[in-house]
Amino acid sequence: MTPFHVQKPVPVPLILDVDTGVDDACALLLAALHPQVDLRAVTCVGGNTNVDQVVRNTMTVLDVAGRADVPVARGAARPLLEPSSDARHVHGDDGMADLGWPSSDRHPDGRHAVELLRDLLCAAAEGGPDDRITLVPLAPLTNIALLLRTYPEAAAGLREIVFMGGAAHIGNATASAEFNVWHDPEAAAIVLESAAELDIPVVMYGLDVFYDVRVSRRGAKKLIAVGGRGPAELAGRLIDFQCSRFGQPDATIGDAGAVCVAIDRAGVTTSILPVRVELAGIYSRGRTVVDRRAWSGDLSHDAFVPAPTTVRVALSVDGERYADLWWRTVNVASR
Ligand code: BDR
Ligand code: CA
Repeated sequence: MTPFHVQKPVPVPLILDVDTGVDDACALLLAALHPQVDLRAVTCVGGNTNVDQVVRNTMTVLDVAGRADVPVARGAARPLLEPSSDARHVHGDDGMADLGWPSSDRHPDGRHAVELLRDLLCAAAEGGPDDRITLVPLAPLTNIALLLRTYPEAAAGLREIVFMGGAAHIGNATASAEFNVWHDPEAAAIVLESAAELDIPVVMYGLDVFYDVRVSRRGAKKLIAVGGRGPAELAGRLIDFQCSRFGQPDATIGDAGAVCVAIDRAGVTTSILPVRVELAGIYSRGRTVVDRRAWSGDLSHDAFVPAPTTVRVALSVDGERYADLWWRTVNVASR
């Protein structure tokens, strides 16, 4: 009998841009461990904490996942225009739940994040369609704006950008704006504008779905019980920290949801919508203005139509499906 041959899907080449961050750490664990992800590099930017601490946190997580082979590069220390601010009130003093985890003894890549991105994307552009890289920014978009403005030719190596940021409906850093876009609104505006100019498909995984992928404290305790300071224990402690901090019986996997999109597109429902970033405004600076009007009416009175950039905006997510994907992937002992 002829053996039944099942072809394995080709892993997706992926680069994460992070401000690690409790939920960035959840995302790093997923990307580092999932067999369908070919994690090529991680670039770092100031956001949840300062960029040097982001680099340290990122290397710690990759080491725990047994992925010291993945290059990590330091990027922008501050937003393009704004002074730096951070979110240690959410993520702890070290930006990653103050777990006292042993720090990595390796060194980051010698290149600036933008140069590493340029090198990897231009190399990918030389290959075929399967070599194109999915870029997943989970942080303020400073590095990505600098990349696309300085080396627009790097866009040829991109399959798409799936970024965590913005929202059609709600804010968190302010009543209007989501943290990553609010932290560096000019960078977000540049990325959306460049995506339109350079023909880069973009998925916006924003606050409309961000809080809907949740792991229970019971699920976290099971991960912690695996022990040995491995990926499962770290993952469990990150969820447990958030449950305590917010007084909830469960917690979001946050940024990790955007990695789930790259792995399992069917778990999210998107609509292609025009999106702009509010750069003025007192109460609305950093808001992503998502145009959800029906386009049948006469909009000739609106000087801002048509918006130059349309984005696939994630409007609903199968939370259980993604939570399960994440939990099963990180539930492994030390390697
Ligand atoms: C985003 O802001 C950060 O605090 C999180 O890491 C996430 O990327 C949510 O608004
Ligand atoms: Ca983040």
